[in-house]
Amino acid sequence: MSSEAQALLRLSGVRKHFGGLVVLNDVGFSVAPGEIVGLVGPNGSGKTTAINVISGLFRADAGLVSFAGQDINRLPMFRRAQLGINRSFQVPKVFRDMTVRENIEVAAHCGSKRNTDVDAILDDLDLAALAEKPAGSLTVNQQKLLDLGRALATGPKLLLVDEIGAGLNPAELNGIAALLQNLAARGIALIVVEHLLDFLNRITARVIVLGAGRMLFEGSLDAASRDPEVVAAFFGS
Ligand SMILES: Nc1ncnc2c1ncn2[C@@H]1O[C@H](COP(=O)(O)OP(=O)(O)OP(=O)(O)O)[C@@H](O)[C@H]1O
Ligand SMILES: [Mg+2]
Repeated sequence: MSSEAQALLRLSGVRKHFGGLVVLNDVGFSVAPGEIVGLVGPNGSGKTTAINVISGLFRADAGLVSFAGQDINRLPMFRRAQLGINRSFQVPKVFRDMTVRENIEVAAHCGSKRNTDVDAILDDLDLAALAEKPAGSLTVNQQKLLDLGRALATGPKLLLVDEIGAGLNPAELNGIAALLQNLAARGIALIVVEHLLDFLNRITARVIVLGAGRMLFEGSLDAASRDPEVVAAFFGS
């Protein structure tokens, strides 16, 4: 578990509302370099909003969001990307008319990294054979991989992965699990939002459970599955 001193990302007392709807309420946790943290919770519990508040799509209304010791809550998304925070999207966002390679090349200009090895990323994602195809011709699953590749091209220190597993077959899931573990081994911290708990269990021993915008639990998935509050949030009390 990450101590304060080691933390790369730190959230404390984070709150986000849309009109009268409080979507994140007093959320606080830390992530250390090279650590994989699973973020789980029922539909609408605030997982994507948490990713949005960390990546800079939204600002937290209250609380602290710090990265490498710096308060980043007022920084726009591109500045956070330059610092080393990037994310993939639940619904992949690729430039459909550009080739797969061009998509990664464009993304590389948005980050902190100088010499992005586009071919290495294409190999990592198993997309090398499709490099010259328009991104719009890819399947949704391949677009999800490309979206992850675009995030990787920026040279992230913290990668936020929003539901990449949904719709993938077992072989594809194995590939993604191995890739995410490999990225963590290279020192990249990952927050992985996922409904597929078996998949998550394979890549991390630490999960955070959100329920209606509140942190219900932090610890192992195994312990989470025995926690009455977590069980009630998923299945109703
Ligand atoms: N831009 C927005 N404006 C208004 N409400 C929003 C906005 N974004 C999210 N919400 C609301 O905030 C709540 C949390 O949404 P969020 O997308 O963070 O949930 P989630 O945990 O990612 O759910 P899912 O598992 O379905 O992806 C939902 O009630 C959602 O309708
Ligand atoms: Mg979501």
